[in-house]
Amino acid sequence: MGSVTLDYGNMLAPRLLGRGVDPRDLDGELAQAFRAALAEMEALRSSGELGFFALPEAVDQARSIQALADSFGQWFENIVVLGIGGSALGTITLRDALLGPHWNELDAEARDHYPRLFVLDNVDPRTVGSLLDRIDLRRTLFNVVSKSGSTAETMAQYLVVEGRLREVLGDEPTRGHFLVTTDPRQGALRALAEREGIPSLEVPANVGGRFSVLSAVGLLPAAAVGIDIQGLLEGARNMARRAMIADLRRNPAGMLAVLLHHAHTRLGSPVHVLMPYCDRLRSFAAWFQQLWAESLGKAVDRAGATVNVGPTPLPALGATDQHSLLQLFMEGPRDKVVMFMEVKEVPDPVPIPHLHPDVPALSYLGGHTLAELLGVEMRATMEALRQAGRPNLLVEVDALTPQAMGELFMLFQAATVLAGALYGVDPLDQPGVELSKRLTYGLLGREGYERPTLAHSDESWRV
Ligand code: PA5
Repeated sequence: MGSVTLDYGNMLAPRLLGRGVDPRDLDGELAQAFRAALAEMEALRSSGELGFFALPEAVDQARSIQALADSFGQWFENIVVLGIGGSALGTITLRDALLGPHWNELDAEARDHYPRLFVLDNVDPRTVGSLLDRIDLRRTLFNVVSKSGSTAETMAQYLVVEGRLREVLGDEPTRGHFLVTTDPRQGALRALAEREGIPSLEVPANVGGRFSVLSAVGLLPAAAVGIDIQGLLEGARNMARRAMIADLRRNPAGMLAVLLHHAHTRLGSPVHVLMPYCDRLRSFAAWFQQLWAESLGKAVDRAGATVNVGPTPLPALGATDQHSLLQLFMEGPRDKVVMFMEVKEVPDPVPIPHLHPDVPALSYLGGHTLAELLGVEMRATMEALRQAGRPNLLVEVDALTPQAMGELFMLFQAATVLAGALYGVDPLDQPGVELSKRLTYGLLGREGYERPTLAHSDESWRV
């Protein structure tokens, strides 16, 4: 079956004080809606619009990516990805999930002499400037990642880095410190790479930013830090097969999409919380947030009618956010579905010693492990929500392996496309981000863009 399982018992009415999904609908109305969504996904896939489905099959391409990563040897101490949104979040997720969020703090030996991996996914000068001041630029590779090849933030980062490298390298060419990952033909970055002789990788034309983690976008940085990218693709292939199964009860992507859409449109729960009980998956929840929001929040449906639909994804972390969000989840508006995530295998569960037997608030913990406590807290929270009639489900992961990450990425990508069909919107576009881009270009004086007049605040509205 694979190493990822969906347990949706706490979404069902008999378990949820009558408030959830009627299980009979899973073989009736919901199964029917799912079959229509699956047919739409199949049509998009056959017409070549869903390029992300083909990525796990591109095994030879992954071998070339691996060969390129291997060719760096131990020369680069740092790899810095310059990119934003879908060009950054997948790489951050891979690093944090498979190497741990503290990878960059380890010394070279503990990293097995693989480089540090930084992802600059913003243009905050405090972050960019301090990173560039801190690392040895002579031993750093900058991977400029942009599908469109023109995103302002990424282009600005490139210019800043190119300027710094010129200062450090003098007459030496800077191109050996760059790699470009972009569209095969279009965009300023592609043209620049060709003109400057910068080595480049391709993001297939039919793969959009937020669906690109299993392309060169995520694979090159992953391979460069020793992650098994063939394992990633293997897991993704496995889930891609499961996501095409026509029986809703055997299709985890279909079940996820159908239940979340139903919870939104019928149960009044448009807020979809993803709450891993695993620090290493915190970035996965951020990756999901972008995927779900940008794909499903749309003004018009496929027929062009104004609908202004879309669920609101909310990333959270267990057990930490039990102490910030849980009160709201339990007693606030009934507008949420909580998706818990658990990784079953914990290599070092960290035993809790038996100390202070005379202090009851401490002594009951002795003899258990931190892994046990984390797992118990998650199950207790699921049960508390269930008893309060609040829908929730569990994404169970056997172990944090490249295969499992491949499965998870594909599970949520396929669920997003299926949810797009259920909401009746195009999950692949993002027209809503264009206006602010145009205004930015105009304000910065880009050729071809008029300088806009912004609505200014009135002094009397300031306090
Ligand atoms: O998913 C998307 O399409 C976006 O989030 C993009 O990834 C983001 O805007 C960056 O775009 P680009 O990769 O073209 O620089």
